[in-house]
Amino acid sequence: MSESSDTPSTSLTDGDDPAFTDGNDPALFDKVVNLCKRRGFVFPSAEIYGGFRSTYDYGPNGVLLLRNVKNAWWRSMVQLRHDVVGLDAAILGPPQIWEASGHLANFTDPLVDCTSCQSRWRLDKLEDPDTCPNCGAVGKFTEPRDFNLMFKTHAGPIADAGAVCYLRPETAQGMFTNFANVLNTSRKKPPFGIAQIGKSFRNEITPGNFVFRTREFEQMEMEFFVPPDEAEEWYRYWCAERFAWYQSLGMPAELIRLRPHGDDELSHYSSGTSDVEFRFPWGWDELEGIANRGNFDLTQHATHSGEKLDYFDPATNERYVPHVIEPAAGATRTAMAFLLAAYDEEEVRGETRTVLRFHPRIAPYTVAVLPLSKKPELMGPATDVYRTLAEHFMCDYDETQAIGRRYRRQDELGTPFCVTFDFDSLDDHAVTVRDRDSMEQERVPVDALVEYVRARIG
Ligand code: GAP
Repeated sequence: MSESSDTPSTSLTDGDDPAFTDGNDPALFDKVVNLCKRRGFVFPSAEIYGGFRSTYDYGPNGVLLLRNVKNAWWRSMVQLRHDVVGLDAAILGPPQIWEASGHLANFTDPLVDCTSCQSRWRLDKLEDPDTCPNCGAVGKFTEPRDFNLMFKTHAGPIADAGAVCYLRPETAQGMFTNFANVLNTSRKKPPFGIAQIGKSFRNEITPGNFVFRTREFEQMEMEFFVPPDEAEEWYRYWCAERFAWYQSLGMPAELIRLRPHGDDELSHYSSGTSDVEFRFPWGWDELEGIANRGNFDLTQHATHSGEKLDYFDPATNERYVPHVIEPAAGATRTAMAFLLAAYDEEEVRGETRTVLRFHPRIAPYTVAVLPLSKKPELMGPATDVYRTLAEHFMCDYDETQAIGRRYRRQDELGTPFCVTFDFDSLDDHAVTVRDRDSMEQERVPVDALVEYVRARIG
């Protein structure tokens, strides 16, 4: 579908349909997209009004998945490191920021219109730059126009030029504009990093492939400020570190790769960029870019603001502008990749079992507590087990339907452990723990349950 069809719709794949060029699996894409709606992961935004232009809402299970992705990133990038601090900067910013960063002048995509069917395309994404993918007309495109991807708005009641501001198209600039604030208040010195998770906005010409490319999305970015002569070493360090993060959360080796950019792909200020790529159903595509940005950003902001954005090293008596290594990942895109990687179907006793094999840290719920029956003598103590576990883990509680169906429902949510409270539990004070992947069951004393689950989360 072309951009011109980016009108209100409740389709879950509004916008650009995936071009499955890599011999990959369109059926998997459809299955995951359908499961997202059916199981409350992702809904088309404003659906009761017919949907709104490739925007999506994260439902009860999707919000947990997305939060877990962000928590896992924050844990590894901030919590477990003494050399990285966090930040939560404003989404609205004045034109000066985007003037300095180069976004006002350069954050553009080449836009062409087909004069035959009036569809609109991003020229650099067309397989054949002369042929309209919608109507097949050849040589009917307009001259490409640079289309700036930033959302422009006004702050305050009067919409004049002085009130113009922009929704940030990346979280990164907040880390550069706050460099001196953080340096002066955190007692950090290079090498150190500032990390941020938050929403970014890009008026993409061709959003699409479900939540892969949207106009409103979440990023997880970190700017790591280093002495210039250490930049190359830290660049290599962060490439390895970030790649290992995906693996540590169970991303299968055959579905991710680290791809260094060729010289023709590098921005003029970057001396090295590598992408962590995921094998999406339509082929390899980017999850995260790790870039050696030199001193471009701090120098630009220092020049445009007139503020000093450098570091005086008392050990060497030298003043320098730190270089920056930037691992920049998409949270929403990464959540989608975890969903695709986790999806599995298998035959169990003549029936197809759909299961999301999430790493326990990523799964929306860690545990589901399922009383065997709705009898009050079971529901009371089962609720107590739920309350105990919920102090430590995200837990679901489900007393509806037959136990087999409840297991299947939890499989589709990717819940690693189902805890069944049955009539024997009243006497032996133990429960049955069912493992999502092996479906094996084990009797575990209620008193040992928290430690049992904790030991298996990894
Ligand atoms: N500060 C550098 C920067 O923003 P980027 O490659 O443009 O780099 C980083 O964005 C990550 O943000 C991408 O790798 C991708 O995961 C995510 N991202 C970018 N545009 C997106 C969009 N329109 N929808 C969803 N995710 C997006």
